[in-house]
Amino acid sequence: MEYILDTACIADIRHCNEFYPISGVTTNPSIIAKENRDFWAILKDIRDVIGPDKILFAQTIRKTADGIVEEAKLLNERAGGEFGVKIPIGEEGLKATMALKKLGIKVLMTAIFTPAQALVAARAGADYVAPYVNRLDNISGSGAEVVAEIVETFALYGLPCKVLAASFKNVEQVARCATAGCHCVTLSADILKAVISHPMTDAAVAGFDSDWKSVYGEKTILDL
Ligand code: G3P
Repeated sequence: MEYILDTACIADIRHCNEFYPISGVTTNPSIIAKENRDFWAILKDIRDVIGPDKILFAQTIRKTADGIVEEAKLLNERAGGEFGVKIPIGEEGLKATMALKKLGIKVLMTAIFTPAQALVAARAGADYVAPYVNRLDNISGSGAEVVAEIVETFALYGLPCKVLAASFKNVEQVARCATAGCHCVTLSADILKAVISHPMTDAAVAGFDSDWKSVYGEKTILDL
C-alpha cells in the first residue's frame, strides 16, 4: 500500500517528504482554499518539494464535461511532473474521464461512497478511485468495508483501477484499509505521524537508552 499526503501545507509536505516514504500529494478545493493564496503558486511550491517523479493530484472546479477536460489539460500542462486530475463522480465527470483517457491524462475519480460508483468510474477508465473512509464511518457505515468491497470487485473483473482511499481520522481506519488490500491511502501529516507512533515503542527506546547509558554514559558508537 502506498502512502500519499493529503494536504497543501508546504511545511507538512516538506517534513513528510523528508521522513516518510510518500508517493505523492493529493489536494482538493477545500485543502487548497485552506492555504488562502495563489493557486498556481501552491501547486508550484508542492512540486518544488516533491520533485517531478512523485504524483501530484489537483481537482477540477468546472461542472460540465468540456470544462472539466479543459481544466484537466491546463493542470496537466502546468503540473511540472507526474500528475493526476481529481474529478468528483457524476455524469459530466464520467464523460470527461472517458475523454481524458484518450488524451493520456491520469484520472482519480473522487467523492466515492459505494462499490457501485467505483465500478462505473473504473469502467469509464479512471486510474484511481477515492472512497471517503471517515465520512462513511461518520454516518454509521463502514469505510473500510466499502474499500474492501471495491478492492475485491476490481480484482474480480481484472480492472487496473487503483483504490486510493481518502478521509482518515485515525490509524485503525488506515490499518483496516491495508488488510483489505487497498492500493493507496492519502493521509494528513498528523495521521501519518500517528501511524508510526506507539507508547510501547517509546518505552522500548527509553529502555535501550537507559541501559546503554548505565555502562557507556553519553558516548555513542562513533565515540568508542
Ligand atoms: O481528498 C478527500 C479527503 O481530503 C476528504 O477528507 O477529512 O475532509 O473527510 P475529509
